[in-house]
Amino acid sequence: MLDARARKEETRILLLEGIHESAVESFKAAGFKSIETEKRALDEEEIIKRLPDVDVLGIRSRTQITQRVLASPAAKELLVVGAFCIGTNQIDIKTATASGIPVFNGPYSNTRSVAEMVLGEIIMLLRGVPEKNAQLHRAVWQKGSPNSFEARGKKLGIIGYGNIGTQLGYLAEAVGMRVYFYDVVPKLPHGNVLPVPNLKKLLQDCDVITMHVPETPFTRGMIGAEQFATMKPGCVFINASRGSVVDIAALADALKSGRISGAAIDVFPEEPSCDGDAFCSPLQHLDNVILTPHIAGSTQEAQVHIGEEVSEKLINYVQFGSTNMSVNFPQVSLHGLPGRHRVLHVHKNIPGVMSAINGVFSDLHVNIAGQYLQTNQAIGYAVTDVESEFSADALSKLQAAPGTIRVRVIS
Ligand code: NAI
Repeated sequence: MLDARARKEETRILLLEGIHESAVESFKAAGFKSIETEKRALDEEEIIKRLPDVDVLGIRSRTQITQRVLASPAAKELLVVGAFCIGTNQIDIKTATASGIPVFNGPYSNTRSVAEMVLGEIIMLLRGVPEKNAQLHRAVWQKGSPNSFEARGKKLGIIGYGNIGTQLGYLAEAVGMRVYFYDVVPKLPHGNVLPVPNLKKLLQDCDVITMHVPETPFTRGMIGAEQFATMKPGCVFINASRGSVVDIAALADALKSGRISGAAIDVFPEEPSCDGDAFCSPLQHLDNVILTPHIAGSTQEAQVHIGEEVSEKLINYVQFGSTNMSVNFPQVSLHGLPGRHRVLHVHKNIPGVMSAINGVFSDLHVNIAGQYLQTNQAIGYAVTDVESEFSADALSKLQAAPGTIRVRVIS
């Protein structure tokens, strides 16, 4: 046996921060047996202490996987890290990559949750429900239909037609909205959704504008006073993407002037770090605004999906070496194990490594059944399926190849 934990029964999994039970079930269903769980996050010292007995580490957003953790001798056996959440800022990605440790996350698990909440907000805002709700809480009965509209037939403008934008398009069409989108990348429109050539046109034409872009230098502040002035008078505005994309002071002005009839904001330029912390925004005390504490993606279903989505990626990496959808590794999509052994070689992206690897196979008369190589700026990931017996001698020769970071053999 070349690698004691090449067998999944012996792979040691540690899942922290109360990761959903669906992850444990997925690992068990795939035949993994050694699964430890912890409800809480671990600090740096605790992680370093535990790592020598861990092959697969699952965290959520609170456990910090720092440079010190990843570069410590304790992390020598660590095969892979799974972030059972969307963000991966808590992991030192650069060091993980340089150490040959792929990182996976679950970016799509809460797509539906966000889209559903946004659809609900569109309907509530078009009907003026937030204001009526606030008035009744102040004991003011204000019945009537002015400024109360159906969603059917209204134009929805989606900025950023990615996973969430696409999903929202389906839901909005189902209630009879006419859906348009603006995206910087050409996208295949689904259903009857139509692309518009530029942002200005979308802002001018639509009754509801909703943001679904990532935070990038180009999206920061992309909606401000000028864009609110371009929107149709009485437009409804929604942001459940990232707080930095909207100038909140300009939005408050547009709401106060009546240019914008209502807004739903789930994300803010500055968000409190802990539950119970104070929150302050120029949008507070405006009746026509729905404020939510960054919860568009937070549902029980999303937690279940995230457990399944991330564990599946970890399982595929451990079993087959697949790095499909990894945050930091070159992507090699693999299913099944056709050869006798699969050799996974992670190396620095420098010239000459492949010829050194193949030289080892050739010298030892090892027949190659299939080979895949992908690289990114930092590393190369070479996967070689071999037919013949693969010795410990071959493994140590591969480990000695120039630029080698890690070698793993799956049988
Ligand atoms: P995605 O990556 O699938 O889609 C983003 C889309 O925006 C892409 O089609 C991209 O081409 C487009 N885009 C990028 N820059 C643009 C620009 N300058 N103008 C127009 N389009 C641009 O991302 P996904 O999964 O749809 O998420 C969208 C956003 O929602 C992300 O920022 C994410 O962080 C946020 N989000 C918020 C949640 C919440 O709880 N409020 C939960 C989940 C995601």
